Amino acid sequence: MCGIICYCGKKQAIPILINGLKRLEYRGYDSAGFAVVENGAIGKNGRNNKNRRNIVVKAKGRVDHLEKKKIGLDVDATFGIAHTRWATHGKPSQVNAHPQTDCANKISVVHNGIIENYLELKEELMAKGHVFKSETDTEVIAHLVEEYFEDDLEIAVLKAVERLSGTFGIAVIHADIDHQVIIVKRGSPMVVGIGDKEYLAASDSNALTPYTKKMIYLSDDEIAVLNSDEYHIKNLRNETLEKKIEILETRDYKVDKRGFEHYMLKEIFEQPVSIENAMRGRIIESEGVSKLGGLEPVLDRLKNTRQLIIVSCGTSYYAGLLGRYIFEHLTELNIEVELASEFRYRRLKLDEDVAVLALSQSGETADTLAAIKEAKRKGALVLGIVNAVGTAITQITDAGVYNHAGPEIGVASTKIYTSQLVIQTLMALLIGRYQGVSFIEGSEIINALIRLPDQVREILKNADQIKEIAHKYSRYKNFLYIGRLFNYPTAMEGALKLKEISYIHAEGYAAGEMKHGPISLIDRNFPTVAIVPDDLTLDKMISNMQEIKARNGKILSVTNANVPQVEKISNDIIVVPRTIPILQPILNIIPLQLFAYYIAKEKGRDIDKPRNLAKSVTVE
Ligand code: F6R
Repeated sequence: MCGIICYCGKKQAIPILINGLKRLEYRGYDSAGFAVVENGAIGKNGRNNKNRRNIVVKAKGRVDHLEKKKIGLDVDATFGIAHTRWATHGKPSQVNAHPQTDCANKISVVHNGIIENYLELKEELMAKGHVFKSETDTEVIAHLVEEYFEDDLEIAVLKAVERLSGTFGIAVIHADIDHQVIIVKRGSPMVVGIGDKEYLAASDSNALTPYTKKMIYLSDDEIAVLNSDEYHIKNLRNETLEKKIEILETRDYKVDKRGFEHYMLKEIFEQPVSIENAMRGRIIESEGVSKLGGLEPVLDRLKNTRQLIIVSCGTSYYAGLLGRYIFEHLTELNIEVELASEFRYRRLKLDEDVAVLALSQSGETADTLAAIKEAKRKGALVLGIVNAVGTAITQITDAGVYNHAGPEIGVASTKIYTSQLVIQTLMALLIGRYQGVSFIEGSEIINALIRLPDQVREILKNADQIKEIAHKYSRYKNFLYIGRLFNYPTAMEGALKLKEISYIHAEGYAAGEMKHGPISLIDRNFPTVAIVPDDLTLDKMISNMQEIKARNGKILSVTNANVPQVEKISNDIIVVPRTIPILQPILNIIPLQLFAYYIAKEKGRDIDKPRNLAKSVTVE
């Protein structure tokens, strides 16, 4: 979703802003823009120069469209702000793209999040004579700052922010104020980067890492003022704050496609390594147990926890659904899994005996953040499994574990899903070994985990076979995915992968539920993908498949054994290596990711940036 990058220093700002926008592209967006103030003679008081031009360049579509405009790209400017927009208020268009400006075109604002009271503010400002150009909620901020501005931008922004309700990360510049960028955060992440005689800010530290690893993560209701030779941070009561500078300890992952046609394909193929990275240094083979440094400070509390509630969204939610089975299998905890967006409506009794575990690739998902804030308010222990280092969720949780999977750029999550499954297994094993799980059982799980990367490699070697199968199925308009027990979440995740990147309708169902409704859809044009491992669900899965066959439904099976009955009923079959039942879904999802990818490719879809989707969903 929306992204912000800002620069204030001595270098040319525009290339830095454009590069930052490119690093934010993976989040998903529909338009982009930047504002800079052209350098010129310093005014009499050494600060203000009323003749400087505020240059605002915006374009609908990709950042390249912005570059292709070639307008304003050669302006001499050493501070500015830029934005990628994912439309919420008003359609994607050049006029609705950010930055938004005031009536005099001197104040530029970029904004992530939503201003909930923008309509009433807009009416009030229009009554005072302000003229609005866009349909956005953001534009009210520019006019409000204009309304309060006398000669101090900081004060004007403070006064404007007092009037806003909702969530936001904001950056503001004024053409008359030399080298000053003002940042405000409430509910939407903002981080300040401390460079060498230069300051940057962004909504995502990923945009800043080429310039600095020194970060200050703003908390809600904090304002950062960046000048060319100093910065300061205040709260909204105008009191100066001393904030810790953190060194972003992220491995330097290369953000390129490494010869793959799409990031998604590259990320599918990275899974042997991302699975290894999820386990690296986290297994004690000699004791049949895992070791998660990030959980050590809360381990005593965790051992005595009675209930674990997993909260997350989308693919991370399906990882959580599978987590329920994994934790139930290995621990004595009562497990609940809840969509983060629904969690707040529940009347759950949360206390210190309850732990809430957030799963999030981006660490920024607004629904997940809101859910864990609610859990914290009620006294629960809040934990996270997050991939993006230093992000908002990691700031709020009491303890957590990083995926260390490297950036996931393709909008459709692949390697993080399997990494989330591995880490939940390690967590469950850690807790389970204090409860009923024996050394032998622990060792079996560890041995199976260690074998996973090579088993994934084996599946990936068969990508061409999966491509051929995908070709056969690409003409269908609807799909049903079914599985039981550990593979019921696999069915849902497989269906989500297909629908989000190919735009084909697909439903993931618990196989047992099929006869309670969806079976009425089945005919020769409505194929089923059945996840049918050789485990205790096999016989029942075969019965469900028979029911489909009897109604002329085509079946593509994913299995881990040569079971004659499965072979007989299936029209097509993909065999993956066998592992223990709780880990089998990690192997079963890989061909389904590839299946979705190849169908989407055949349909010529924009696989890494599917329509309407964003990588980081920062609005609720
Ligand atoms: C689907 C997908 C999304 C995310 C969801 C949560 O492929 O990527 O469904 O899983 O938006 O995002 P995170 O994990 O960043 O909280």
